[in-house]
Amino acid sequence: MTSQITLQRPDDWHLHLRDGDMLRAVLPSTATHFARAIIMPNLVPPVVTAADAVAYRDRILSALPDGSTFEPLMTLYLTEQTDPDDVAAAHASGLIKAVKLYPAGATTNSASGVSHFDSVRPTLERMAEIGLPLCVHGEVTDPNVDIFDREAVFIDRILDPMRRSTPGLRVVMEHITTSNAVEYARSQDDTLGATITTHHLVINRNHILSGGIKPHYYCLPVAKREEHRLALRCAATSGEARFFLGTDSAPHTDENKLLPCGCAGCFTAPNTMSILAQVFEDDCALDKLEGFTSLNGPAFYHLPVNEETLTLTKGNAVTYPSHVETPDGPVTVFDPGYDLNWRVT
Ligand code: NCD
Ligand code: ZN
Repeated sequence: MTSQITLQRPDDWHLHLRDGDMLRAVLPSTATHFARAIIMPNLVPPVVTAADAVAYRDRILSALPDGSTFEPLMTLYLTEQTDPDDVAAAHASGLIKAVKLYPAGATTNSASGVSHFDSVRPTLERMAEIGLPLCVHGEVTDPNVDIFDREAVFIDRILDPMRRSTPGLRVVMEHITTSNAVEYARSQDDTLGATITTHHLVINRNHILSGGIKPHYYCLPVAKREEHRLALRCAATSGEARFFLGTDSAPHTDENKLLPCGCAGCFTAPNTMSILAQVFEDDCALDKLEGFTSLNGPAFYHLPVNEETLTLTKGNAVTYPSHVETPDGPVTVFDPGYDLNWRVT
């Protein structure tokens, strides 16, 4: 029985770090285990221009623990006013690694996102020319579409037509939650990748709603039926290069999670690697963990694999603090609901 596994150091291809006190409180959780992360730009106000991204990158770097070599990979938040020349210059200088598309109103701080997809066509065409990936939050916002169907409808109504009309555009389907998304990703060429979160490999919608409502399991896209969770497990553990880890670790204070209208997001940064080792072991796929966390993402983003390594060891139950403290109050760490036996050593 395997009791130790060494991986090339993992990266997180979808991460929310926030800003200010929250940034300082949550950044060490990621920087301890991950070499790099794609940093989501949905701040208030959002990271829209190259100048915004430079300033945010500097705030992240100055919040890092002493001696950390963690590298934030910056993104820009696509708006209907985005200037394609600014995007191209930010890419050429090496500042940004992707642009993020939020349908307006789809999720936390997405109000400045896109409502009229034709209006961002010039930016998407320029991105296709220069090979800059578009990270897509794939949910329609049409109130007539049931929230559990919003990802599947987005693929048909928005994503597939957008990719057909912008040949060569490199797209990451972010935090996929359905077998529909797995099947679509598999049916396409290597201009399409997909990230999968830690929590969507663990919970289905019963975990949120059965036996009392569990606000800490509420995130967007919302977890779906068990058959979809199983499709995500198959995809993540398959070793296929198009699937890679994007934790979507999204810290909110408990106060904001536990409101009558609470925030969406699961905070998985502290225990993600322990949970993933458990998931891959349970699915007899520990040999595929490194591809998912450390190899497939760099290949999609045309970046080198990290040189350092990370070792996980199996032993007695590992406990993680249930909360990370911030000056604004505690942030609850995602609880997979079972003991974790793999620790990062
Ligand atoms: C994210 C957040 O809080 O910024 N929330 C979430 O539930 N995942 C936004 C997002 O990625 O949708
Ligand atoms: Zn996210």
